[in-house]
Amino acid sequence: MTTETDHGVGEAVAARIERRWAILSIVIVGLLVGMATFIGIHQATMPQGRVETSDPRTLHLSGEFVESNLGSTLEADGSVTVRAIGQQYSFTPQCIVVPAETPITLRTTSADVVHGLLIEGTNINTMLVPGYVAELPIRFKAPGEHVMPCQEFCGIGHQGMWGKVKVVDKAAFAKLAAARRRLTCVD
Ligand code: CUA
Repeated sequence: MTTETDHGVGEAVAARIERRWAILSIVIVGLLVGMATFIGIHQATMPQGRVETSDPRTLHLSGEFVESNLGSTLEADGSVTVRAIGQQYSFTPQCIVVPAETPITLRTTSADVVHGLLIEGTNINTMLVPGYVAELPIRFKAPGEHVMPCQEFCGIGHQGMWGKVKVVDKAAFAKLAAARRRLTCVD
């Protein structure tokens, strides 16, 4: 038989259990936020702070992503800007040449559907969404070659959509940049 006192005790127990679960939930949320913050800061995988748009219909005709402006450029401050586009089923330029030990800004977009751009051996992995510019910072420690596959299904030719990044010695790149304004390693 349940008495008034039993009822009171039951309520107190229920309140205590509820409080424990509430605290546990807050701790779990705090832990997840902490993990996301740590990974974001430690591995520099921040979401973009601003959104830049581009018009895929006029991409080839004018503006930053016209064909003659694609490739790598040595900036006045010594950094390098790489501009590339993805389209069914290739990247332009197909082969990107960059110097080692240099801050690089990669600016890319898509000319048609959603593509992906991944540079093997780095933390570069982004989606190329038509209408938007994806900008990412990169820095390569040493010369070498990295494959750059499209990692987002974009149609029947998707599996054949591959590019390449060739990292060369800083001095060799400076020599190339002195001769030409926009560099690629497309043969
Ligand atoms: Cu482009 Cu898959």
